[in-house]
Amino acid sequence: MKKVTAIVGSGRKGHTYHAVVQFLDNLKAMGDVDTEIVRLSEYDIGICRGCLVCMDKGEEFCPFKDDRDLLIEKIMASDGIVLATPNYSFQVSGLMKVFLDRLGFAFHRPRFFGKTYTSIVCQGIYGGGKLVDYLGFVGGGLQFNVVKGSCLMTRAPITEKQQHQIDRALAVHARRYYARLQGPAYPTPPWVNLFFFRMGRTMMRLETDDSYRDYRYYEERGWFESDYYYPTEMGVVKKGAGKLFDAVFATVARKS
Ligand SMILES: Cc1cc2nc3c(=O)[nH]c(=O)nc-3n(C[C@H](O)[C@H](O)[C@H](O)COP(=O)(O)O)c2cc1C
Repeated sequence: MKKVTAIVGSGRKGHTYHAVVQFLDNLKAMGDVDTEIVRLSEYDIGICRGCLVCMDKGEEFCPFKDDRDLLIEKIMASDGIVLATPNYSFQVSGLMKVFLDRLGFAFHRPRFFGKTYTSIVCQGIYGGGKLVDYLGFVGGGLQFNVVKGSCLMTRAPITEKQQHQIDRALAVHARRYYARLQGPAYPTPPWVNLFFFRMGRTMMRLETDDSYRDYRYYEERGWFESDYYYPTEMGVVKKGAGKLFDAVFATVARKS
């Protein structure tokens, strides 16, 4: 049984919510999937004040005592995550952005490995494709296993033809997502992830020390010695390239 949690950034039970219901129903029809819908509008999430305490000292020192950790617990308890948002002024909704800002520290101290992630964007006319790309980038930065999302045209009144297109897009998307959900949770990292992991940790090792929260986070997890964030099958070529990346970044860091 896989647990999939959809986090919805619309303030109403409108098109985005209904698209999520349909997407999750598609998943459930394919196999053993338990689902939950989390409507951000029903949770208390403060707007980040930019104090940087979460980055520097630790997320537990955030001045807000709100539902952020409850939402993070929901993510941690899931095998799959769907972020769904309407396109508002060519961006994700304010609700969704406020939530993402509150996860900012997790780009520095990632923790969402092994979870399959995707996005659904609903829009009236234009701009949602870029939001799907944006949310894909965010998911990658948070170290989810990212499945490309979908952008749906949901401006009312929806014609029969448009509804057919929406149904089809959600069915195809759900199949793609389900296949990934059944795949290995801890896959061999793509080159770009390996590159950034080795670069980030080499810079951190040479330029910071255990007075930094991020350094301690890496140290506690053995990330200064490991091949990657998590144990995974890596061929000789990737292992060798990883070592080469370490050496190159160390030289660059020392020179700069
Ligand atoms: C404040 C606001 C801004 C919007 N901006 C855009 C936009 O930039 N591009 C677009 O295609 N649709 C835009 N829309 C339309 C919504 O994306 C569209 O109606 C969507 O289906 C709403 O989702 P919902 O039913 O879940 O609220 C906007 C709607 C609102 C309310």
